[in-house]
Amino acid sequence: MAICLVTGGAGFIGSALVRELVLRGHSVRIVDNFLTGCRDNLPPDVSNIELFEADIRDLKRLQPIFHGVDYVFHHAAIPSVPRSVEDPETSNAVNIDGTLNVLLASRDAKVKRVIYAASSSAYGDTPTLPKLESMPPNPLSPYAVNKLTGEFYASVFAKVYGLETVSLRYFNIFGPRQDPNSPYSGVLSRFITSLLRSQPPTIYGNGEQSRDFTYVDNAVHACMLASEAPNVSGKVFNIAMGASHTLNQVLDFLQNILGTKVKPIYADPRAGDIRDSLADIELARKSLAYEPQIAFEEGLRRTVQWYKENLGRHAAN
Ligand code: UD1
Repeated sequence: MAICLVTGGAGFIGSALVRELVLRGHSVRIVDNFLTGCRDNLPPDVSNIELFEADIRDLKRLQPIFHGVDYVFHHAAIPSVPRSVEDPETSNAVNIDGTLNVLLASRDAKVKRVIYAASSSAYGDTPTLPKLESMPPNPLSPYAVNKLTGEFYASVFAKVYGLETVSLRYFNIFGPRQDPNSPYSGVLSRFITSLLRSQPPTIYGNGEQSRDFTYVDNAVHACMLASEAPNVSGKVFNIAMGASHTLNQVLDFLQNILGTKVKPIYADPRAGDIRDSLADIELARKSLAYEPQIAFEEGLRRTVQWYKENLGRHAAN
C-alpha cells in the first residue's frame, strides 16, 4: 500500500479522490487551507487519513509533509475563470506559485509520480472541435494561463529533474460535493440547487455555449490510471466524456429529472468564458486505458440525488 498525498483533498474533486484512495487501502495525507475546501467533504472514517491544514503557497510548511510520500495528486487550486478575472494575483499565487511549490516539495521528497489537475480552459476558443492535446493552447483568462503554466512546469520537472508527472486536462467536472454557493461555482451545482429551491437559474449568455460535462468519478478513475500507467511521464491528457451539451440542453435534462418547469434568467455573458468545449479522449484511451465509467445522464441523476439529500448542508446565499 502506498502513501498518497492529495492537495486540495477537502475540495470537490480532491475529496472524491481521497475516498477512492482510502477504499483501495492507501494511507492518505491531505493538504488543504480550507479556502474553498471544507471539512464536511471528508469521509466519516478518517483512520487512514492525516489532515494538514497548510497553504501550498508556503513551501517551508509543505516540505516536511511530503517526506515519505509515494504519489501526489495535486488538486489544490482556485478553480474559477471569473474569480481569476476579478483577482488575477491570488489565482496566480495559488495556481502557479503553489504548483511550483508542490513540484519542488515532490522532487525533494523523491515522490514516485505527481498527477496534476490541469484544465481544458487551456484550449480557449480555437475553432476546431474536438480538442486534441497536440493543438496549440490559447488561454483566454488568467485562470487558463495559470493552469497551462502548471502543465509546463510539470513537464519541465519531468525533463529537468526526472520527477514523473502527468497532467490531466479536466473538462467541466461535476458531481456531489461541488460547492454551489459562490457565484464562481460550477454551473451544474448552481442549476441543480436553484431548481431544488424553486429559484430561476441564471444563464450567462444565450445558453448555447457547450461543455463536455464529466462526472467526478471519471476524473478519479483517470487519476488512478495515470498514477500507474507506464511511459506517460511529462505528458498531458484530456479527461472528459468526448461528448458535449449546451447549457439549455442540460437545464432541460435537469428539469426532466426533477419534474420542474422553472424559467431561467438570461444575463450578459461572462468575461473570459469560452463558447464551446469538447474533448478528443483517444490519447487517454490509448495511453492510460481510460474509459468513462459513468455516463453523463447517470452522473446527473446521482448528482441531483446527492443535492436532494444534502441541500440543508449548503445554506442558500
Ligand atoms: C470549469 C471549471 C474550471 C475547469 C474548466 C475546465 C468550475 C467552477 N470551473 O470552467 O475549474 O478548469 O471547467 O474543466 O468548475 N454559467 C451560467 N450560470 C451559472 C454559472 C455558470 O450560465 O450560474 C455558465 C458560464 O458562463 C459558462 C458555463 O456556464 O459559460 C460554464 O461555467 P463554469 O461551470 O464556471 O465552468 P467553466 O468556466 O467552463
